Amino acid sequence: MKKIVLIAVSVFLILSFCGCSEEEPLRIVHITDTHFTGSENYSYEGTFLAANDTNGTGKQVRYIEDILDAFIAEMLVQKPDVIIITGDLAFDGAKVSHLALAEKLSVLKEAEIKVLVLPGNHDITGNTYIFPNGEPEVSVSVTVDEFKEIYSPFGYEGAVSYDPNSLSYVYDAGKNVRIFMLDTNLMYGVTLGQISEDSVKWLEEQLTACKEAGITPVVAGHHSLLSHNPRFDFSYRLGNGDEVSELITEYGANLYLCGHLHTQHYVQTESLTDIVGGGFCVYPHRYGVIDISPSGWTYEAKTTDVSSYAESIGSSDENLLGYDEFGYGFFYDNAYIQAIGSLTDYVADSELLEKYADFSAKLNVAYFGGDYSELDFSIADDFLKDCDGTGWAAYLKFALDDPKDSTHCQWPVATE
Ligand SMILES: [Fe+2]
Repeated sequence: MKKIVLIAVSVFLILSFCGCSEEEPLRIVHITDTHFTGSENYSYEGTFLAANDTNGTGKQVRYIEDILDAFIAEMLVQKPDVIIITGDLAFDGAKVSHLALAEKLSVLKEAEIKVLVLPGNHDITGNTYIFPNGEPEVSVSVTVDEFKEIYSPFGYEGAVSYDPNSLSYVYDAGKNVRIFMLDTNLMYGVTLGQISEDSVKWLEEQLTACKEAGITPVVAGHHSLLSHNPRFDFSYRLGNGDEVSELITEYGANLYLCGHLHTQHYVQTESLTDIVGGGFCVYPHRYGVIDISPSGWTYEAKTTDVSSYAESIGSSDENLLGYDEFGYGFFYDNAYIQAIGSLTDYVADSELLEKYADFSAKLNVAYFGGDYSELDFSIADDFLKDCDGTGWAAYLKFALDDPKDSTHCQWPVATE
C-alpha cells in the first residue's frame, strides 16, 4: 500500500513539475472583414446591390446574415476560448449594421465564448448608405465613442489596458495568453494603416509588462505587418509595419493575425508569421483555428458550412441548401465579368478571351481561398504572356508566383 501511495505522489509531482496539467492549448478562432449588414437594412432588388454582384470584390451581401448565423452555430458546438474579428465589421460602417452585428455576437458571449473586435477602415465612416428598399438611403456610421459602447461586451470592457490614443487594447484570453488588439487605422474611413508614435509607446509598455509576467503575446490588427502582395503594399500593409513587427518580435510575439486584403495568405519569416484571414464576406467564408500551447501553435483555415446549417434550420432556399455551388458560382461570375472587361482590348480571339477569363476567375477564387489544389495551371504562362499589361494579369501574377497552400501553418515552422 505504501508503495502505491509513493508511486501516486511521484506521478503527481512529475506532472506538476513539467506543467503537463497546463498543456491544454488555448483555442482562438479568427475571422475578419465580415462587412455585415442585417437583412432588414437592405433589399436585394435594388440597383446598388445588383452592382455589388459584378464589381469584382465578391462580397456576399445578400446572404451574409445566413453565413454569419452558420458560423455562430458552428462556434456554439466547437466552443473556442476566444473569437477575434479584425475589423471591417459592418458594411460601409452603418450604425444599424454595427448594432445588428453586436446583437448576433451576444449569442456567443452568452455561451461564455470571449469575442474581441477591432475597427477596420470601413467601420467609422461618417455618412454612409443602407438599402432597405433596394435603393441607397443616407444613413449614419458610428463615432469612436459609439463604437466603444456598441462593442463594450466584445473587448471594450474588461481589458488589461486601453490605449488612450486609439481603439487598441490588450486582453487576457486565459491559459497564459494575452491578445494585443491593435487599431491600425491611420484615420477612420481611410484605407491607409499606421500606428502613431504615442500608440507604439503604449504598445511597448504593454509588451514589457506581458514579458515580465511570463505571458505569451499574440498580436492582431486590420492591416498586415508584412508584404502579402507587392502590388497592394501601399494602403494594405501598415505604413510602419517594419517598426511594429520588429518591436513585437523583440518581446517574444511570433504570431500576427490580420485582414483587409480579403485573401487567405500567410508570410513566415524567421521570427514572425503574419496571417491574413480570408475575408469572411467572401466565398469560401474562411475562419482560422489557432491552438496555442507553451511549445508553439498550429493554424488551420476552415470553411463555414452554410448548406448544413440551412438544412438544420429547415430552410427552403435552394441557394443556401446548395451553398458550395452557389457561393463559388457567385464569386466566379463576379470575377469573370471583371476579367472580360479588363482583357477585352488585349485578346482579340473571343474563344481565347473566354478561356482566359475562365482561368483568371478560377484563379481569383483560389487566391482568395488560399487553396490552389483544384486549379489547372496549364494555360497560366500563355495567360500571363497574352494578357501582359492588363490590370487583371498584374493583379493575379503574384498568385501565380506563389500558389502555396495558405490554409495551414505552424510554429515552430515544420521542417521537411
Ligand atoms: Fe474589408
